[in-house]
Amino acid sequence: MKLDIDFVRAQFDQLNDDPDFVFASNAGGSYVSNQVNRVMEHYNHHTRVQPYSRFTPSAQAGAAMDRAHSGWAQALNIAQSELTVGPSTSMNTYVMAQAIGDRWKPGDEIIVTNQDHEANSGVWRRKAQEKGVTIRQWEVDPDSGLLSLDALLPLLRDNTRWVFFTHCSNVVGTINPVAEITKTIKAGSNARVFVDAVAYAPHHIFDLKALGVDGYAFSLYKVFGPHQSLLYVNSAIHGELTSQAHYFNSGNPAKDFNPAGPQHAQVAACAGVLDYFDDLYQHHFGATEKSRNAQLQDIHQLILQHENALGAPILDFLQHRGDVRLIGKVHTRDNDRAPTIAFKPLQQSSKALAHKLQDAGIGTENGNFYAHRLVGDLGIDTEDGVVRLSLVHYSNQHDVERILAALDNALG
Ligand SMILES: Cc1ncc(COP(=O)(O)O)c(C=O)c1O
Repeated sequence: MKLDIDFVRAQFDQLNDDPDFVFASNAGGSYVSNQVNRVMEHYNHHTRVQPYSRFTPSAQAGAAMDRAHSGWAQALNIAQSELTVGPSTSMNTYVMAQAIGDRWKPGDEIIVTNQDHEANSGVWRRKAQEKGVTIRQWEVDPDSGLLSLDALLPLLRDNTRWVFFTHCSNVVGTINPVAEITKTIKAGSNARVFVDAVAYAPHHIFDLKALGVDGYAFSLYKVFGPHQSLLYVNSAIHGELTSQAHYFNSGNPAKDFNPAGPQHAQVAACAGVLDYFDDLYQHHFGATEKSRNAQLQDIHQLILQHENALGAPILDFLQHRGDVRLIGKVHTRDNDRAPTIAFKPLQQSSKALAHKLQDAGIGTENGNFYAHRLVGDLGIDTEDGVVRLSLVHYSNQHDVERILAALDNALG
């Protein structure tokens, strides 16, 4: 079975705004599904009051927020008490740095990478410095930008407290084998594992218990939804963390890692992403008794096949040009390459090339995309950076053809 791309595209009104425009900046933030807009509109039209009181619109507002919370816990195969909905992943990791790092002491060690977006790097480094904790850096291969387990193993010690890494870099686009890495970390140390999945979740919603991680975060505004971030914290480690809630809310798992007041309508609209996935599932597979997470695994098979077919011709084109340095894996054959494709043109600046692509109607950008350490350590100017073309499952072969033609022209 194949993904019905016409059905998919009919769920995103913004795709029909301008038929001549190709949106290739999805890793920056995706279009919002119509299902999400419907939930948001309903909330604002009918239940826009302080939630969780007994009077009708307030009770309905609370129920709409609870629907999002319980639905996403099912989608991720975790308990509701393990899920926090926060304002952004940068804010969620910032809060977690206070919760996790509060009890760090000199002699402890942490491992961070130079592959990550700064949201999963700087907050931990800063807290470690404050606490006198040793920071070890798991480094990418400076040519490809890829991380290897071999480079991680010598960094693991008895006193390694946490390892922070990414499910998929927003520049390298290659998917790190999180379950295997986590297993290796846990076999060789007592360390906890935190994973940034912001660049991966738009392509696959994982079963988090199967991954075995202790913390996991991603942003729904890149997963066809509202500007919110989901944060998983394994209940087995809640006791090791310091609550960041008001003192009288401490011990309430929905509040311990989110001192911000929730953005009620946005939280409710998170359920709209699941409504979209429900519609996608039903359209392709019909009615089911399967768990929400199992449905997402079925959908993933369709999306993976479709996204591989989007990425392959672009990677193929770029890797055979002598005037381009392609970052990350150069093919999709191993099913571990998201269609987030970054490259450095060698005979012109990234900015100049991005402008030519934009003039040809391709929505793309150049820069370091806040993976500042990575871009610098790849030997690329951090200001000009790379050009990034990022597609998701609603992109189609017509988009790919337009991108290839524009690239051919712009590279000369
Ligand atoms: C890989 C990655 N991690 C973290 C973030 C930060 O997410 P947020 O914008 O929700 O703070 C981004 C944002 O672009 C990202 O791409």
